[in-house]
Amino acid sequence: MGKTYFITATGTDLGKTWLTAGLLAACRAQGRPARGLKPVMSGYDPERPEESDCAKVGARPTAWCYRAPMSPDRAAAKEGKSIDFAALIRWCREEIAANEGLLLIEGVGGVMVPLTERHTVRDWIAALDIPVLLVCGTYLGALSHTLTALAALREVGVVPGRLIVNESMASSVSLEDTLASLKPHVGAVPIVTLRRDDRAGLAQLASSL
Ligand SMILES: Nc1ncnc2c1ncn2[C@@H]1O[C@H](COP(=O)(O)OP(=O)(O)O)[C@@H](O)[C@H]1O
Ligand SMILES: [Mg+2]
Repeated sequence: MGKTYFITATGTDLGKTWLTAGLLAACRAQGRPARGLKPVMSGYDPERPEESDCAKVGARPTAWCYRAPMSPDRAAAKEGKSIDFAALIRWCREEIAANEGLLLIEGVGGVMVPLTERHTVRDWIAALDIPVLLVCGTYLGALSHTLTALAALREVGVVPGRLIVNESMASSVSLEDTLASLKPHVGAVPIVTLRRDDRAGLAQLASSL
């Protein structure tokens, strides 16, 4: 049986897709089979599929891809649909069971993004019960977002396997200052830092997964 990880973040645009695609490429370069999934997507333009997250992680679009660039629950509602949470979990479990290499499942938005009226991304993560990589940034405000996300995950019994501190673009706060503040507050969660375009960092993280 292979290894599967869930890639989530403290919010959107923080580098989940960049990390997923980068880790997949690094793994394959190390001679290890690796596959990405992007089961839930909003802001999906079927006329430009190559620009979508699922294309970037080499996955096929699923039935849970919606056009409107908003939270998945609302994006689905705009199409007269809703996410069948149990079906999503079943589908992911089948993919996990069939995986023989490295499988990376990219979530959607941040940990508290609504999927249905009763579920957010953290419930999806808790139901799958697989190791989690939580991506956070170094922008001003990232500390509170990061500790809030950790607390929200803890509330449903999820402790990330790694906290990925991904250097934000043009951040006014340095990676070093971010780490100095974060470390005393994250308990035993191992921290991995990635600089902008950090190929060496991606390769090192990939080899540890
Ligand atoms: N460490 C990094 N180095 C260079 N570019 C990055 C890095 N992290 C994120 N990006 C870029 O930032 C943008 C947003 O990242 P993305 O992976 O799409 O976020 P998310 O999937 O969490 O919404 C993308 O253009 C991505 O390529
Ligand atoms: Mg993404």
